[in-house]
Formats: sequence, C-alpha cells, structure tokens
Amino acid sequence: MTTFDASADATGLGEIEVGAARINVDDKRMINARADVNQLLPMKYTWAWEKYLAGCNNHWMPTEVAMQADIALWKSPDGLTEDERTMLKRNLGFFATAESLVANNIVLAVYRQITNPECRQYLLRQAFEEAVHTHTFQYICESLGLVEGELFNMYREVPSISDKDAWALKYTQNLENPDFETGTPEADQNFLRDLVAFYVIFEGMWFYTGFAQILSLGRRNKMIGIAEQYQYILRDESIHLNFGIDCINQIKIENPHLWTEEFQAEIRTMLTEACELEVAYARDTMPRGMLGLSAELIEQYMHFITDRRAQQIGLAPIFGETENPFPWMSEAMDLKKEKNFFETRVIEYQSGGALDWD
Ligand SMILES: [Fe+2]
Ligand SMILES: [Fe+2]
Repeated sequence: MTTFDASADATGLGEIEVGAARINVDDKRMINARADVNQLLPMKYTWAWEKYLAGCNNHWMPTEVAMQADIALWKSPDGLTEDERTMLKRNLGFFATAESLVANNIVLAVYRQITNPECRQYLLRQAFEEAVHTHTFQYICESLGLVEGELFNMYREVPSISDKDAWALKYTQNLENPDFETGTPEADQNFLRDLVAFYVIFEGMWFYTGFAQILSLGRRNKMIGIAEQYQYILRDESIHLNFGIDCINQIKIENPHLWTEEFQAEIRTMLTEACELEVAYARDTMPRGMLGLSAELIEQYMHFITDRRAQQIGLAPIFGETENPFPWMSEAMDLKKEKNFFETRVIEYQSGGALDWD
C-alpha cells in the first residue's frame, strides 16, 4: 500500500512522493484514502465520472432563455394575481441564496473531505453549476426589475426561509473549523450528516416545492422563461442529488461501522424535521391554494419525496405516502417532452439519460 502523510493525502497539495509505488485502484476510498488524490486513473467510482460527463452534456446558461414574455406579464397589472406574485418572490428569494449556501458547502466543507479524484472532478463541475444557478437568480432579478435587497435578504428576513437555512447551516458549521478532519467515527458521522443535510435534504427535498410552484405557473403559460430555467436547474439538481446519494451509500459500504442503529434513527429524525420545515415554507409562500397547488398537497408531496429519499439511502419509509399528488412533475423533468409541456421554444441540449435519476 502507498504511504502518505495524512494531511498531504487529504488535500492533494502535499509534497510529491517521488518514486513512491504506483497506486492500486483498491487503495482508492471515498474518505480517509491513502491513495494519491491527484491520480484520476485508474478509476474506481465510474458512477461519479458518468455524472461528471452528464453534467457537461447538460451545459446551459440562463441568458440563453428569452425573458420578454415574463417581463411583460410581470409588469402588466393584471398579469399575475397578488398571491402568485408573493409566491414567486418568496420562491426566488429562497433559491437566490440557497444556491450560494450549497456552493459554499461543496467548496469549503465537502471537497476537502472527499479523498477521491473522480468524485472531486464531479464536485468541481457541480460547483460551477451552482454558480450558473446563482447567475440565474441575478438574471431574473435584473430582467424583472426586482428589488435586489429584498430578494437576497429573504433568507434573513422571511422566517420560513431563515428556519430552513439555519437548520442546514448547523451541519456545515461542524466542518468549517479549519482543523476538522475525518478519520474518527465521530468526525466521519459529522461528515455523513453534512452530506445528508445538503444533498438529500437541501437539494433533494427543499428545492422541490419551489420547482412544483414555478412549473405550475409554466404549465399555465405564465412566466415561461423562468419556468424553462427551473427545468434546467431541476435537471442539474437531480444529478447533484443522485451523486450525493451514491456518495453516502459508498461511504456506508466502505465504513459499515458508521451506520449504527442510533445513527440511522438520527438521520430519520433529520428527514422528518426537514419535511416539517418545508411544509411550513409551503404555507408561508402559499397561504391560499393556487395553480392547482395548496399547502396540503405540498405536504402530501413532501411526505412522498421524504419517503423516497429515505429509501434511496437504505432507510425504511417514514410517512408511508405512496401517492405522488403531482405526477406531472416527472413529465416536466423530461426535457424531450418539454415542447408539448410548455408549448414554447426549447433549447436543444444533449440531455443524455440524466433524467432517469429522479
Ligand atoms: Fe443548484
Ligand atoms: Fe445543486
């Protein structure tokens, strides 16, 4: 086995071990690896590389989407109801800073602890995609002439948004201490909690109310530019989510001692709390039903999504909700059908099979 100084090993920036033995693919590990993190080949986790390629094939920019129809509708006094305007602003307000929180967690907390080059390759791609998503909210804000201070401060001023963000930040704050490093069961579990909080919950649960709201507007031919952008974000996020799930499951395989009964119970509690926070956010953004949506339907949808996420990381369902109240969401995620869905122009991207990963 190759030997490395532990700290140099984790960053990939330590002294070069001239003449050291070549790495063996079996030495590659998700966390606490002893193999050189600068050597992509030989590759071990092909699922990470495939997601990197799928992300590259899905490249898009928000500025490629025309906003004229959205601007006209937004500026027309009768274009949207007051309820729709409130929902839209709070929806955008949540995403505007959520994308940045997710990006900061990847770059400042996750990247350093994942000791595998093919996963790091994907993380670099994901980090760029999060920048594209933040750019989308800047572009929407500028196009519609929204008050930027209002939009970008909602995470500090709207309680149902602050509550979600503050809940997730606890998990990344555990890791932001510069001396934090994995290698003990306690630290490794801290890292797993962060992956669950950000990949499974933030990107895998909390984005979905927002997607359903905007795609519902789009289905009614309202704010079709934003709806198209959200479809591309949703396509990216479905890969982010599935990368996170693969990481968690691979770490479990390599470190079964971390996945104790007690820890599983704790993760189930996290999922339950996160679901409650999302339902509160749905009530706050939609005090009355609209667009075929209501806080009650969102609650059912969140129970359905939470159960699916639990199962994806090997836990039993929490709510036992088997019916998805928004079956049209899966169609909205299929960009090949988008032309019919929105009856609008579609930018042809090579989407590959990315959407099989819902
Ligand atoms: Fe994102
Ligand atoms: Fe993401």
